[in-house]
Amino acid sequence: YTAERAKLPLIPPYLQPGIDHQLTYGVNFASAGAGALLETRQGLVIDLQTQLGYFKNVSRQLRKQLGDAGAESLLSRAVYLFSVGGNGYTLPFEINSTVPHSYSPEQFVGLVIGNITTVVKEIYENGGRKFGFVNLLPISCFPSAEALLGGGRCFEQITPYVKLHKKELPKLLQKLQSELKGFKYSLLPFYSFLDQRINHPSKYGFKEGKAACCGSGLYRGIRSCGGKKGVKEYYLCKNVSEYVFFDSSHPTERANQQFVNQSWNGKPTLSGSHNLKALFESY
Ligand SMILES: *[C@@H]1O[C@H](CO)[C@@H](O)[C@H](O)[C@H]1NC(C)=O
Ligand SMILES: *[C@@H]1O[C@H](CO)[C@@H](O)[C@H](O)[C@H]1NC(C)=O
Ligand SMILES: *[C@@H]1O[C@H](CO)[C@@H](O)[C@H](O)[C@H]1NC(C)=O
Ligand SMILES: *[C@@H]1O[C@H](CO)[C@@H](O)[C@H](O)[C@H]1NC(C)=O
Ligand SMILES: *[C@@H]1O[C@H](CO)[C@@H](O)[C@H](O)[C@H]1NC(C)=O
Repeated sequence: YTAERAKLPLIPPYLQPGIDHQLTYGVNFASAGAGALLETRQGLVIDLQTQLGYFKNVSRQLRKQLGDAGAESLLSRAVYLFSVGGNGYTLPFEINSTVPHSYSPEQFVGLVIGNITTVVKEIYENGGRKFGFVNLLPISCFPSAEALLGGGRCFEQITPYVKLHKKELPKLLQKLQSELKGFKYSLLPFYSFLDQRINHPSKYGFKEGKAACCGSGLYRGIRSCGGKKGVKEYYLCKNVSEYVFFDSSHPTERANQQFVNQSWNGKPTLSGSHNLKALFESY
């Protein structure tokens, strides 16, 4: 939806084989389930550092293709969108892991924010100037939490981590803006957006805010949609547009489109932050 609003074609995944990647429109390094730390779902995802390595490859290729001046101009006009961090906070509670049982929220969030900082600074050094960040989602209150706990409760064990990250990310962006010449950003408040729709769906045109459209168990919080995880029987709702969540932990297309619409034109909630339109159009 962001690409659509920016009048760009849909950008295919960077590693998708068999296509001619038009690098000058943009590149999609995203990896489902990845986090900011190497340890997050290691072996199953492309971690943030590896994504950064791919970006450096692309920036080298662009220099060859467009020359140094052409590449620099393109890289500085490009918008670098991030949605990362949340998976690092849920994972430790899903499987047995040493993280963050051995870390306080301050220490663990420090690692996540520290790794994000390193990556942003390296992109800046490679010519990037415009950054868009989705702040954390209310992951502790997703339908997946219902499957574990029931009774409309949130997964409070993660809450201190989420709250701290949500506080630290805006601070980081304001700090980077004061330190790095020409650094511009958008902070996209997905947390409050979803939180409002989970609790007051009808105010925003949805019928259901808490239960997912597809899955099984309480609030369809078990991610069995499509017959995954050995669960053959699962529920699929009739009209997905009535739901805020598609499955246990992913918003529906309609929720995502509403979010991009609001982020595109909306008033920034943090001083120094731009809406997406202003970020894309700025020089
Ligand atoms: C990155 O570039 C190096 C050197 O040009 C190359 O060997 C490697 O295959 C590239 N990796 C990707 C994923 O493009
Ligand atoms: C996780 O820890 C619990 C409790 O210590 C144990 O019963 C279980 O077997 C462990 N699971 C895995 C996959 O290691
Ligand atoms: C990044 O995360 C790793 C753990 O994956 C940690 O050892 C390292 O100190 C972190 N880096 C920063 C700058 O916080
Ligand atoms: C599905 O729900 C949306 C939102 O409530 C509504 O606008 C649309 O008409 C519905 N579609 C059908 C086929 O009922
Ligand atoms: C988002 O905005 C576009 C363009 O104005 C509009 O067509 C679309 O219906 C909006 N979507 C939602 C979910 O509000």
